[in-house]
Amino acid sequence: MNNLIRRCKYQAMKTLAIYNPKGGVGKSTTTVNLADGFARRGLQVLVVDLDPQSNTSNTITGVSPRKLHLTGFSMIEDPNIPIVECIHETVFENVHILPMVMKLRKLEPELWRRDTDYLRIRLARVAEFYDICLIDCPPNLGKLTMMGLVAASHYLTPIKSADRYSLDGFDDLTETVAEVQREKNKELRYLGALLTMHDGRSNISKLIASDLESKVGDHILSNSIPQSVKINECIDAKKSIFALDANSSVGLAFARLVKEIMVKMGYIDHDDSDTGNSQPDEVNGE
Ligand SMILES: Nc1ncnc2c1ncn2[C@@H]1O[C@H](COP(=O)(O)OP(=O)(O)OP(=O)(O)O)[C@@H](O)[C@H]1O
Ligand SMILES: [Mg+2]
Repeated sequence: MNNLIRRCKYQAMKTLAIYNPKGGVGKSTTTVNLADGFARRGLQVLVVDLDPQSNTSNTITGVSPRKLHLTGFSMIEDPNIPIVECIHETVFENVHILPMVMKLRKLEPELWRRDTDYLRIRLARVAEFYDICLIDCPPNLGKLTMMGLVAASHYLTPIKSADRYSLDGFDDLTETVAEVQREKNKELRYLGALLTMHDGRSNISKLIASDLESKVGDHILSNSIPQSVKINECIDAKKSIFALDANSSVGLAFARLVKEIMVKMGYIDHDDSDTGNSQPDEVNGE
């Protein structure tokens, strides 16, 4: 996208990494629905898909990411390609994406050569166009994940609430963040753990929630996301829950989560009033 329009309301873009090296815990589902949820509340949103599985890119990029000439892959492969040319519109209004394509084998040698600051530096070049950037991290502790954490101002960790394995590796996760905070990104702040696919009545969900509490204390987001078949319907229809069924229990849960995060990140006050203070204007891209 060469002509980005500066429509953002807030002065500084904040960057939220959705991170858990455990696979299948709801990272991409959270990213997609938060993106549309924030946009519907008036934010200009950039999604960065760092996962070569490309689930988020496949769901919200209007065309198949493979058909795009330039993507996040291109930006990592060739440092001379400006990030702005690798960003695309999505099926959601006011949400753009830096998509990823499934070429990890080709990407790995290039990744070795890139510093973990690589994404942070490039995102700074488009920060004036977006209020919030959401980074969907891959399910590992590799270089792409490190780049995501180094670029982020905040991170949240989805935990699949009925899955005991979901907490395995949580200590590695915490150690990785501590290392990033120590060496690269002192500003990185924990927004909290998000219980996903949650059934508050089942014993296993209650047990996992209490084990999680012993690990993260009160860093658990107040709103959890219930298990719902509607999530798979959303993926199939390439829609967010707000477009598919906003009044379903999972739709209402995501709406509450969007508001909770906007308060925690300082976009709105508890009473829901907007804390933005800059006027939108128009400028050209890079
Ligand atoms: N609230 C929910 N209710 C029911 N199914 C869900 C819910 N959230 C996610 N799922 C399903 O769980 C699976 C994994 O979700 P998702 O792809 O978001 O996880 P992930 O952490 O991004 O996975 P990966 O680590 O492979 O990237 C998907 O099939 C998704 O549809
Ligand atoms: Mg994913």
